[in-house]
Amino acid sequence: MKPLRPKVAIIGAGNVGSTFAFSLMISGLAREIVLIDRNEKKSAGECMDLNHGLSFAQPAKIYPAGYEGCEGADMVVITAGARQKPGQTRIDLVQTNTEIFKEMIPRITQYARDAIILVVTNPVDILTYVTLKISGYPSHKVLGSGTVLDTSRFRYLISEHCNVDTRNIHAYIIGEHGDTELPVWSNANIGGMSFARYCGLCDKQGHCVLKKQLEGLLEGVKNAAYKIIELKGATCYAIALALVRITEAILRDENSILAVSTLITDYYGINDVCLSIPSRVNRNGVEHFLRLDLTDEEQKRFQHSATMLKGVIDQIRF
Ligand SMILES: NC(=O)c1ccc[n+]([C@@H]2O[C@H](COP(=O)([O-])OP(=O)(O)OC[C@H]3O[C@@H](n4cnc5c(N)ncnc54)[C@H](O)[C@@H]3O)[C@@H](O)[C@H]2O)c1
Repeated sequence: MKPLRPKVAIIGAGNVGSTFAFSLMISGLAREIVLIDRNEKKSAGECMDLNHGLSFAQPAKIYPAGYEGCEGADMVVITAGARQKPGQTRIDLVQTNTEIFKEMIPRITQYARDAIILVVTNPVDILTYVTLKISGYPSHKVLGSGTVLDTSRFRYLISEHCNVDTRNIHAYIIGEHGDTELPVWSNANIGGMSFARYCGLCDKQGHCVLKKQLEGLLEGVKNAAYKIIELKGATCYAIALALVRITEAILRDENSILAVSTLITDYYGINDVCLSIPSRVNRNGVEHFLRLDLTDEEQKRFQHSATMLKGVIDQIRF
């Protein structure tokens, strides 16, 4: 049967995959949503539950399937694999999830020849690279959710601190989605005004207190997943909304700038590794990444993030 377009295949119907399916259904972006999980009962149950809400949402065909369900998909979103247990880092998952990807990616690409592949499973930067290499797809067609979520967490913290709408905070987290990520303070602004100037207006002595205080709060961004996992076992809502945002940028050909994980070449000496940097996202996937002018300190931290990820890539077998 001909797919209804746009069609999104979601691999993994766990916390992240099913919450994304729910958010995607509410968004009305996709006409067809397929849930694929090795636990067939789980994907079948999630689809039944979602379908029972369809009379309150926009029309969509939602069903469980095997990998043949990827046929004709515009996007394949991969959330399948092991997740962090309390105290585990994302990198701790690397070999387990690489083994899953070695088996899964050929099964996806056998059917989804024209799809954009969005990787979510952690460690997301490494698995984006693994997906790129195993699939043999051109680099613009494979991206990771990267630091889109971390950037949203960061903007939220700044907005709370400054009492400004989150949407008017223009600041990015770049690098690894994980412990070596960094904020790009040098390019950050509130409504077009640099943080330093904005803080000068808030703080009558003219000191930029925000940067100093938020460097501390940044730890909150980095540790957010650890904290939520400790409190409720897994993260799902904010990542699901971040995935809807990326999906929207792709399916609607928006040319949106998002901090997705993408293959970096020839940027501050970094080559052949996937990590996040603001990038133009549209129907082709990642059109290109923005070669931001970073300060010396930011460069060093970005290079450190890349070197750490490359070190992990060198150690895994795929
Ligand atoms: N990139 C991000 O920002 C971000 C945010 C949150 C979670 N994650 C990651 O997403 C992944 C999923 O997290 P979760 O909380 O949904 O986990 P989960 O355990 O709830 O769900 C994982 C699902 O994957 C399925 N699965 C495992 N191996 C499979 C295979 N070979 N084929 C098909 N399905 C398979 C399982 O049956 C399960 O339903 C984890 O790696 C987690 O760390 C990433």
